[in-house]
Amino acid sequence: MPRSRIAGMGKYLPNNVFTNNDLAQFMDTNDEWIQERTGIKERRYAHRTEETTATMGIEAATIAIERAGITAQDIDFIVFATLSPDYYFPGCGVLVQRALKMKEIGALDIRNQCSGFVYALSVADQFIKTGMYKNILVIGSEKHSFGLDFSTRGRNISVIFGDGAGAVVLQATDDSNRGILSTHLHSDGESAEILAMYNPGTHANHWGNYASFNDAEMADMFMSHAMIDKAENFPNMDGPSVFKKAVVKFPEVIMEALDANGYKSTDIDMLIPHQANLRISQFVQQKLGLKDEQVHNNIQQYGNTTAASVPIALCEAWEQGKIKEGNLVCLAAFGSGFTWASALIKW
Ligand code: COA
Repeated sequence: MPRSRIAGMGKYLPNNVFTNNDLAQFMDTNDEWIQERTGIKERRYAHRTEETTATMGIEAATIAIERAGITAQDIDFIVFATLSPDYYFPGCGVLVQRALKMKEIGALDIRNQCSGFVYALSVADQFIKTGMYKNILVIGSEKHSFGLDFSTRGRNISVIFGDGAGAVVLQATDDSNRGILSTHLHSDGESAEILAMYNPGTHANHWGNYASFNDAEMADMFMSHAMIDKAENFPNMDGPSVFKKAVVKFPEVIMEALDANGYKSTDIDMLIPHQANLRISQFVQQKLGLKDEQVHNNIQQYGNTTAASVPIALCEAWEQGKIKEGNLVCLAAFGSGFTWASALIKW
């Protein structure tokens, strides 16, 4: 059975740097609070009109394809992870296929929020292991800045998120000494609404009095003034509850990947945790007994870029020479759903 290995990586961060002090101009917050609670100093925001989730993904993908030593024509399948797509539908995958003038290959969008990239990687890994495809483009990209509440009402969320994209080319290899060793995917929908964006959506709240709705109420079901007044078109988060669950599930899913392959935590050469909050990453590092040089964090510069955070951090660690051939690399993520996931890779 073929294995899959990461043959090329790319990342794209918009030029526009937005500091904590810049945010304080819009809402009641301050640099000290944000840095103390999250570790974030600044984040990037995409250009309002010229950059989208798809265009950033395409920038990252172009670099990944070139570094893999192939062309866009060699890609057999696209998996695109995002929670902030250019359109409600269709997904971003087809926009990549069009922009890069690819063959009429399959394109799949994954909606798993912060664990989206690791889920996407796992899906791609299965297609390669079965021999169905040889080169799969896996992208994580987010343009959060278009849909955050920049008033004080939304400050617990808006200060955390940033824009950016990361991409990898996953390639089939017969080399049994390298590649993705295993992936591990989990969910617990019990707390689905704790970190969620409720509208637009088809959830049951809209349908209670459906039979008695007049035309205006019917028209309002997708998006209404009431929804906007209640800020239901913005993400909603119970931060402390997310934090409590994350610090349990991150170490658990990392240990699951290590146990499955006969390794212990200190065997990890590089841990790439989803950049949710620096305090969460530090807790996980301590719990696993890892040194600073065994974990790559960049939330200080980019904030939480959701599905893009793992591929951006992975690409950056590699560009900085922190990942070398033969290294044991672990990717791990946790987020809305809740969903969480890990991937163990022999580089
Ligand atoms: N600036 C200043 N004050 C803020 C603020 C901001 N940006 N956001 C919230 N506050 C205030 C709150 O209103 C609250 O004030 P009060 O005590 O007067 O009511 C106070 O700070 C504490 O709020 P709380 O939400 O309890 O803070 P916290 O210590 O839990 O930190 C998070 C908030 C969001 C940073 C933290 O809970 C967190 O990081 N959780 C995980 C989130 C996460 O990882 N999400 C992504 C999932 S992948």
